[in-house]
Amino acid sequence: MGIINWNTELLPYEQAVDEIVLKLRNVQREFKRAQVHSPIEQVEGRVKSIASLLAKANSRNIPIDNALDVLEDIAGIRIICRFVEDIPKVVNIIRSRSDYDMKIIQEEDYITNTKSSGYRSYHITIEYKLMFENEVRILKCEIQIRTLAMNFWATIEHSLRYKYDGNLPEDLKIRLQNCAEAAFQLDNEMTTIRGELLQAQKTMRTQEFLVNEIVKNIHNLYAYAKVEHMNDFNKEFMEIYQDGNVEKLSEFNNKLETMAEIYNVRYV
Ligand code: GTP
Ligand code: MG
Repeated sequence: MGIINWNTELLPYEQAVDEIVLKLRNVQREFKRAQVHSPIEQVEGRVKSIASLLAKANSRNIPIDNALDVLEDIAGIRIICRFVEDIPKVVNIIRSRSDYDMKIIQEEDYITNTKSSGYRSYHITIEYKLMFENEVRILKCEIQIRTLAMNFWATIEHSLRYKYDGNLPEDLKIRLQNCAEAAFQLDNEMTTIRGELLQAQKTMRTQEFLVNEIVKNIHNLYAYAKVEHMNDFNKEFMEIYQDGNVEKLSEFNNKLETMAEIYNVRYV
């Protein structure tokens, strides 16, 4: 190989990252549309910079011509979850696509097997199939799945590691291990109140749905059925809304639904 044009070589990786991020964000959207808790809270992606790619190849004595074939994290995806319980669900979502576009070739469970640094995450290496310049290409991609707390820790630790060029002073290492333990406790605590959080999310969604329906019904009754005393309904709605009681909102909406039915503006 002659001189490598890294910018060109990395183009298919950029496309792969864009595609995978888009696909996973759509999975997240499907959960939202179904009005259920999404195990995916956030999806990020990046292509390794040329500088860190060369540095990694160099530190592992990988000949530069082989770097693209050997390194598995040139394309990197990070999936952030709210709860530890969401992580296996995300892993299963990826597994279910194995015959389609994301073939799993390796899994590393640093949650069960926490690293000595304190690092926790679930890693999956996939072979991703894409069309690039009219050709089918198969590229490796590393997917890291972790909770918000694990991500918080890893982000801070990574910056410090960078600052100290990989040689963290012993006392800092210990403090970081303690922070990792605290993050672990936080994840555990969150698990215990998960049920309550999920219930709160559900109530919020119901409230949002009812408010939408009520506003639509009031508008339809006023605009299409020309019901005159809609102002009174509007006032009543504001009072119930400020009260914040979901059951009352639901009762009020039922009343409007019946009216909309009678005036034939139910599906306008
Ligand atoms: P590397 O990617 O060079 O580490 O090779 P590997 O695949 O043998 O390592 P590993 O699976 O342990 O780590 C892959 C990636 O996980 C790294 O590039 C980091 O993004 C992340 N990672 C692993 N260990 C740590 C850690 O102790 N701290 C932080 N912040 N990130 C880590
Ligand atoms: Mg790895």
